[in-house]
Amino acid sequence: CPGVTAVPGQVHTEDPDSQRSECKLSVWDSDEPVPRAELLKQVEGAHGLLCLLSDRIDAEVLDAAGPNLKVISTMSVGFDHLAIDEIKKRGIRVGYTPDVLTDATAELTVALLLATARRLPEGIQEVKSGGWSSWKPLWLCGYGLSGSTVGVIGLGRIGLAIARRLKPFGVKRLLYSGRQPKPQAGEVEGEHVPLDALLCESDFVVVSCSLTPDTQGLCNKDFFSKMKNTAVFINTSRGAVVNQEDLLEALASGQIAAAGLDVTTPEPLPTDHPLLRLSNCVVLPHIGSATISTRGVMAELTAQNLLCGLTGDAMPSELQL
Ligand code: GLV
Ligand code: GLV
Repeated sequence: CPGVTAVPGQVHTEDPDSQRSECKLSVWDSDEPVPRAELLKQVEGAHGLLCLLSDRIDAEVLDAAGPNLKVISTMSVGFDHLAIDEIKKRGIRVGYTPDVLTDATAELTVALLLATARRLPEGIQEVKSGGWSSWKPLWLCGYGLSGSTVGVIGLGRIGLAIARRLKPFGVKRLLYSGRQPKPQAGEVEGEHVPLDALLCESDFVVVSCSLTPDTQGLCNKDFFSKMKNTAVFINTSRGAVVNQEDLLEALASGQIAAAGLDVTTPEPLPTDHPLLRLSNCVVLPHIGSATISTRGVMAELTAQNLLCGLTGDAMPSELQL
């Protein structure tokens, strides 16, 4: 295929040379994000662009690329970093990586939920710092899943995979909210309820929806005020679904018991951020899909989507715009 393909990020596929022989490649060969100026320069004239969720692909990038650009392939299931309206207007196709990261992300969500509810980071810290003096009846007590009510906001591919994994812990009721009931919820005996009911009744509130104008800032003061004081909040979707000031206030005041976040605004979260000073907040560095095999499969799929977009073939995973 002719022209230049800009490829930011260190994305390893099994056989990069198979692409090199067919395409002229411009590669940002570093694990650090491609600097904006470099992206704007290298994308010029490209027919395809492979990007990561840390690359904001907006009108400026599209204009810098020019009219050749016909495909953008992102190594992520989320696409809130892509200016979809601008992309659609220009007739550019988009590839992404759903399904292949569902299991890894659901596993991480369960790990984060248990770590937060059972206060693992605090316990580990106490062991290391000498704070562990003896077995004490009430020391480091948290919350268990057995007999609990779990509320999942957004029972999509990942939300359902989380629910499937949580159910066997003895979860009594599985609630979910979203625009309409989902037939696949039957498998986890999920009850479709209004968001307010989910918040009032859940012991664990798990956010697993995509970031859209509708969900931006969804978890705000009003949202947290409806949750139980003993409830644990978990977010592995996108940071901007949460109003972080309101979350901070809810955690600091005891409005909710604890929060586990794999996503924040901004990313990375500054090390002096007040959320990091709270013992009831567990923050992870956006590692939902980070298993070695999942990242490998994501890289392959991202490359395949790109190549199919360049040749005009059907992509393995094309985003319907
Ligand atoms: C991860 O957050 C992704 O969107 O793939
Ligand atoms: C805990 O270790 C117990 O024996 O109850």
